[in-house]
Amino acid sequence: MSYEEVKIFKGLKNIYVAESRICLIDHEKGKIYYYGYDLDELAVKSSFEEVLYLLLYGKLPNRNEYREFIDSIKDSMDLPLKLRSYISELPRDIEVMEAIRTVVSYLGNLRGDGLDLNRESIIDDAVDLIAKMPAIISYIYRARYGYSLLKPRDDLSLAGNLLYLITGNEYSDVDINGLDMSLILYAEHGMNASTFASIVIASTGSDYYSSIVGGIAALRGPLHGYANTAALEQFIEIGGPENVEEWFQKHIVSRRHRLMGFGHRLYRIHDPRAKHYERWLRENIDRFDEDAKRVVETAFKLYEVAMNSFLADKGIYPNCDYWSAQMYYALKLPKEVYTPIFAMSRISGWTAHIMEYIEDNVLIRPRAYYVGERDKKYISIDDRG
Ligand code: CMC
Repeated sequence: MSYEEVKIFKGLKNIYVAESRICLIDHEKGKIYYYGYDLDELAVKSSFEEVLYLLLYGKLPNRNEYREFIDSIKDSMDLPLKLRSYISELPRDIEVMEAIRTVVSYLGNLRGDGLDLNRESIIDDAVDLIAKMPAIISYIYRARYGYSLLKPRDDLSLAGNLLYLITGNEYSDVDINGLDMSLILYAEHGMNASTFASIVIASTGSDYYSSIVGGIAALRGPLHGYANTAALEQFIEIGGPENVEEWFQKHIVSRRHRLMGFGHRLYRIHDPRAKHYERWLRENIDRFDEDAKRVVETAFKLYEVAMNSFLADKGIYPNCDYWSAQMYYALKLPKEVYTPIFAMSRISGWTAHIMEYIEDNVLIRPRAYYVGERDKKYISIDDRG
């Protein structure tokens, strides 16, 4: 086929690779649905555990199913000794996301059943993994700084455990519900880069943990999941609302940098998830300490400046990472755990897509159009000089 006849879709923009019943993103009206349920409603009425059930089973649980599901989460939250020792042996200077990629892979080795790619076994592995994620994230983070390791608590939800295990502090219901809402909002978002990475791996017949590790690896990049960490770093670098205009001119108007936490491949309107974070931040800002208030005020000022710039003219608005970074900072979570928390939540979406895709599996194997040199003469190394 000649170059003129070939159509190349770099970044697979606007290419559909599968049929799916999991997530509808109406990027024009600004609506997201998980298995037909409006995310705006799930965010305020549901819990992450219930949404996790929905994504794994394709339906909301009845009371009994929910009770059993919560019991199996609680039974799996603690880490086996081998995993704890493994975490304590990891080099202290590796990034938390790198460590998570490694630890999830090791957990797969320990469980040894990831090769069984039937629905039931995938759900078992997913529940076990997600239940363990608060302890995994916390142990990696706390071991790094030599802090004592805490045991997961039965009386707390996954969001509550995340907060407690990472910081060692007690949190109010408003804070726990805030993080719980964030986990719901992050859980699933169609065929994004990390989900695609997961199904590419699953489509080869590889195991569940390898597919999840692939998702984690893709999520780590700053154009995807690391954007929440990068957004926070940006607010800290700016230092205060009074510095925003100058910083924006120097870094963004000059086109030297991208504004982290802004823009999205699908949306040319506000990210539908953003309003939930914004509401939570506005409702709670008076409770934040001076440091967190300053970061949030900086972010709000930056938002205002960006909304009056060329970015808004191009339809580039803040995405969910812009807002979650502020919420996590206000919750006193260290920035190292922002992307890992996103990963914990998104494992549910990756798992849903892996199960759906392999039901009618086709190996994912696209093509690249060759534009390199041809018919070059091989010269032996002795004659190459
Ligand atoms: N700051 C400045 N300019 C931007 C930004 C931004 N954040 N995002 C897009 N643009 C510009 C870009 O320079 C380009 O300009 P031009 O047409 O003049 O060359 C135009 O907008 C289109 O950009 P693109 O990269 O072709 O668009 P895309 O759909 O591939 O990009 C994106 C999506 C998320 C990679 C991009 O918006 C970006 O880099 N954002 C910053 C990182 C970020 O916040 N990522 C989180 C994404 S959402 C949640 C998640 O997945 O974690």
